[in-house]
Amino acid sequence: MCSVCSVCSVVNTLSNPQSAIHNRSRMAKSKPRTALITGITGQDGSYLAELLLSKGYTVYGMIRRSSTFNIDRIEHLYQDPHVADYRLRLVYGNLTDGSRITQLLAEIQPDEIYNLGAQSHVQVSFEQPEYTGDVDAVGVTRLLESVRALGLKSRIYQACSSEMFGNAPSPQGENTPLMPRSPYAAAKAYAFWMCKSYREAYGLFIANGILFNHESPRRGPTFVTRKITRAVARIAAGKQKALYLGNLEASRDWGYAPDYVEGMWQMLQAKKPDDFVLATGESHSVQEICELAFARAKLDWRKHVKHDKRYLRPAEVDHLCGDASKARKQLGWKPRVKFEELVNIMVDADIQAVGEGRDDFRSEERWFK
Ligand code: NAP
Ligand code: GDD
Repeated sequence: MCSVCSVCSVVNTLSNPQSAIHNRSRMAKSKPRTALITGITGQDGSYLAELLLSKGYTVYGMIRRSSTFNIDRIEHLYQDPHVADYRLRLVYGNLTDGSRITQLLAEIQPDEIYNLGAQSHVQVSFEQPEYTGDVDAVGVTRLLESVRALGLKSRIYQACSSEMFGNAPSPQGENTPLMPRSPYAAAKAYAFWMCKSYREAYGLFIANGILFNHESPRRGPTFVTRKITRAVARIAAGKQKALYLGNLEASRDWGYAPDYVEGMWQMLQAKKPDDFVLATGESHSVQEICELAFARAKLDWRKHVKHDKRYLRPAEVDHLCGDASKARKQLGWKPRVKFEELVNIMVDADIQAVGEGRDDFRSEERWFK
């Protein structure tokens, strides 16, 4: 429990206990807060929903309609809607649908909005640049316009990305120039500037979180970390022989997703809205993940990893390594899980899944050319 106030439920994360977070946390005692999360079915949305529910929020999660009910990552949070105080409520909506967003915001009037919804895969954004722009860029304008037009005082978190830095020199911080190298990164950069613009023009409370890669056992299976750890588990169990990858030399600043959702929340508790980088400050190559992940299962990665050029991108971001000193100083944010521990957590989780017969590995990638 926080050493400064008895209300704040931040556990062992704040190295700067005098930070503004505590002022808002004290306020939380009087009135339960309401949050809207777009992208609640995704990796980050699921961890954020857990965090906010644990803090007493009522959480509205916007989900898109699909022919199968895609709530695997939040199923454990289910609450019977017939009980009086059920606090996780799902609503249909889509970032491509401005009138629905306005309607939802008018009804919910959330204290906080976390805009995590996105077409979040960089390689896919080269195949679907127009759609990616519609959701990741213009979708943000739709949200901002609704908040502005309704005159809401909601605090807004926008999920920006280290991918916006492209090949700008590292370490990349809040003042590093944006040099997007993919439709995804360009869309996120547009969103970043729109948020800054609405903050300055209309005084909205909007925090841009510039997050470096963060992973977990809930990471989507076509992102490289999870693709590797799932393959390790299956290879160790004799269910798969080879793992096909693209560029092994690219390096990223990889952290643990639950640490990062804490930072999102902290950004919205600050006195003033601002832009913050969240990162570990360490960068490791894709090959290093392979080495560690296969070694965890007592396998030699060189015997199993093969090259497939279909996983090379038209333009690559070679090296990302973040400087999160501003978030550390102003928010007291610090990542807890280091690279090797992260890889171990993910490999162990996938080995357990295979052991328990939960390895319904419907890898979307193998269905494509
Ligand atoms: P994710 O697992 O891919 O989840 C994306 C979420 O967005 C899913 O809930 C998805 O719904 C939803 N979504 C997709 N298209 C939508 C639309 N048109 N309207 C409304 N919702 C839509 O992504 P994540 O890793 O949790 O990342 C969360 C956010 O942070 C994303 O904006 C991502 O770009 C950004 N980000 C992520 C990282 C990272 O390393 N994870 C780093 C920097 C920034 P479905 O389940 O229906 O597909
Ligand atoms: N996905 C994938 N699949 N990536 C591969 C593969 C492969 O088979 N082989 C090598 N890579 C390399 C990619 O070329 C890239 O350099 C690196 O592994 C990481 O790729 P991803 O895991 O797909 O993540 P990302 O860095 O492109 O994007 C993620 O992080 C961004 C933050 O920097 C996503 O979560 C984005 O939404 C996020 O904004």
